[in-house]
Amino acid sequence: MSEFLGDADFELYSKLIYDASGIHFSTTNRSILESRLKERLREKKLDGLRAYYQLLLSDKEELKTLLDSVTTNLTRFFRNQAHFDAIEHFVVPELVKLKGAGGDRKVKVWSAGCSTGEEPYTIAMLLKEILPAGWTCEVVASDISLKSLMVGKEGFYPDARIVGIPENYLGKYFEKKPGGYQIKDEVKKLVRFDYHNLKNDSGLRNLDIVFCRNVLIYFDEAAQKASVERFYEAMSSKSFLFIGHSESLFGMNTKFEFVKTDWACFYRKFV
Ligand SMILES: C[S@@+](CC[C@H](N)C(=O)[O-])C[C@H]1O[C@@H](n2cnc3c(N)ncnc32)[C@H](O)[C@@H]1O
Repeated sequence: MSEFLGDADFELYSKLIYDASGIHFSTTNRSILESRLKERLREKKLDGLRAYYQLLLSDKEELKTLLDSVTTNLTRFFRNQAHFDAIEHFVVPELVKLKGAGGDRKVKVWSAGCSTGEEPYTIAMLLKEILPAGWTCEVVASDISLKSLMVGKEGFYPDARIVGIPENYLGKYFEKKPGGYQIKDEVKKLVRFDYHNLKNDSGLRNLDIVFCRNVLIYFDEAAQKASVERFYEAMSSKSFLFIGHSESLFGMNTKFEFVKTDWACFYRKFV
């Protein structure tokens, strides 16, 4: 049992973080919260958890910093290739047929919980490759981690982070720089990074594809369901939702339908 973060303080802080973000702390990840709180107290030169709690109640920026510090931002380019195969062989052909019939040639995507940008850039590069001539795309990339969003906006990835990118993409869409690779402007301009907390309505509407992968896993079921319902509102009829391969909407009683294809499983809004 921790002396620094006792049960009462753990309750207090985990409730504050949950109410602000949906991120759920339990006894298994309690030590992460403890180490992040220690860091914040050191940084703010405070010696008590109660003083820091009072600060959080009045200082919205500090609350954002704490939320950023408790997020897990692990990601990579082309993570779960099966999803991108499904986009190429199922989703885009469907969208081209459906939207093309009405003369709308723009595919609108949201990468919700985009971390440092590898996911939205992967989507943008892929769509650039596979959309028919005359079509374009727009990718909104959002997160509550300001530090991660800054990396994404910069679009520079150290050599070690480049794993998983097919050679032809690397040569075409990145510029080699000392120590890493810079994503080219032709891809960058398709992606708009924005601070957004999934606790709130994004205001986005008529989306064709939503990616929210490996984010819901940090929420409890109530927060997951609330987020998924907001996705539904943000999506157009016959659009597609991708969640992480270890995540599921099973038993959540949402309006999405489960779709199994030769490439991957995902969800679809039909109405
Ligand atoms: C593990 S990363 C997933 C990145 C990417 N989607 C992927 O699958 O590779 C989870 C991201 O979700 C973000 N996140 C957690 N809670 C959030 C919330 N309430 N609103 C928006 N983003 C959140 C974290 O900051 C983190 O960058």
